[in-house]
Amino acid sequence: MPQLVSELNLPHLDMMGLERQQAIDAIVAARSVHWLARTDLGYAVTRLQDVTAILRDQRFHSALSVIEQSPELEGTHFHDERRTESILTMEGEGHARLRRLVAPAFTPASANRLRPTMRAVVGELVDRIADQGECELVADVCDPYPIPIICELLGAPPEDWKLFSAWATDIFRIFNNNLAEDMPLIVRAGEELTDYVGEMIAARRADPRDDLLSDLIAIEQEGDRLSTEEMTMLAQAVLMAGTDTTRNQLACSVALFTEHPDQWALLAERPELAPRAVEESMRYLGAVRGTARFASEDIVYRDVLFPQGTLVATSLAGANRDPEAFEEPDVFDITRERGAAQMTFGAGIHFCMGAALARAELQEALPLLARRLPHLARNGDIEWKPSTFGIWGPARLPLSFGS
Ligand code: HEM
Repeated sequence: MPQLVSELNLPHLDMMGLERQQAIDAIVAARSVHWLARTDLGYAVTRLQDVTAILRDQRFHSALSVIEQSPELEGTHFHDERRTESILTMEGEGHARLRRLVAPAFTPASANRLRPTMRAVVGELVDRIADQGECELVADVCDPYPIPIICELLGAPPEDWKLFSAWATDIFRIFNNNLAEDMPLIVRAGEELTDYVGEMIAARRADPRDDLLSDLIAIEQEGDRLSTEEMTMLAQAVLMAGTDTTRNQLACSVALFTEHPDQWALLAERPELAPRAVEESMRYLGAVRGTARFASEDIVYRDVLFPQGTLVATSLAGANRDPEAFEEPDVFDITRERGAAQMTFGAGIHFCMGAALARAELQEALPLLARRLPHLARNGDIEWKPSTFGIWGPARLPLSFGS
């Protein structure tokens, strides 16, 4: 007979306001007591096996849709019945169909086509700071880096990069726990982006090019079609999910390397280690530390009954430091060969659609930075974003380096 989750005697896991190491310590302490923890909003799993199982269990649905149902969004386009639901919150056959249709546009091969652009963009950003001997990496490199790549992917011209950057910043406010104040900005950015992409789709229909929107239109012409609304939603999802994540992950990874100068030097010397350096830094210090699901029906998992509606946080950071999955999980080692795959891209049907692109971006940026910014050191305190932020990393990363 399964036990009702609310009747279990569970450790409490509250990560709000905790600093980086404190958060990891809290997870380790909680899971030494039980595989499941209680949180202020529901429950949390932190072991790789449980995190993967919950993310793969399609009876658990994305909790992002819960944010969208919040009362602050009443009357906005998030509640508009004509609005196409985001791929991030869709479930079931509708979600599977979209993933199937767009998969060819998000393969490693299509990400590789953008590598020359990635190298050129990081190269230019580094040219501006290389002679200064110091920089604030977030503003100088991490923030500007992903927008040109996403714009190039979509096919938007360089003169519009600034517009995309501002929309991405505003749309992301939805994750910052301040909906009441941020809502007008979020809604306006969403509407402007929708209009812009609508115009781009019309232009690409008349004159196809070598970009994502033209690819999506071509898919539309092969039997099963994507509607204009679905393409607009996808472009918005790519901008939303593909910019702040990459920015923060790059900053997290470099911040981590400042604590491990020997490995920074090793990466400069052996750029072929870039793919492993990316996986290891994403494992050790991921910019997305967790996601969440809710039970769409009564679910029994590991002999525990989760009643319909129960919220379960899946700690990607916890899974990434699980000693059952990784040998010496607290050691940062870019030559690490064995162990499970890192979890910062999630798992299951919502596994990051842009993982190949993000990997390519980081694999291009990190070795280039290691070569051009040797003898890297902190040049003041790192200012971390509040722990409430869904996508997290340094807000400021002051660095000094040699030449
Ligand atoms: C280092 C950078 C990135 C990280 C850490 C990251 C992480 C994630 C995670 C954890 C999820 C799953 C969320 C969940 O299960 O609730 C996700 C989904 C997604 N990501 Fe990424 N992401 C990154 C970069 C990108 C890029 C560059 C793109 C776009 C090209 C992108 C597009 C998406 C999309 C569209 C989804 C939704 C997929 C679905 O729901 O089926 N991501 N990402």
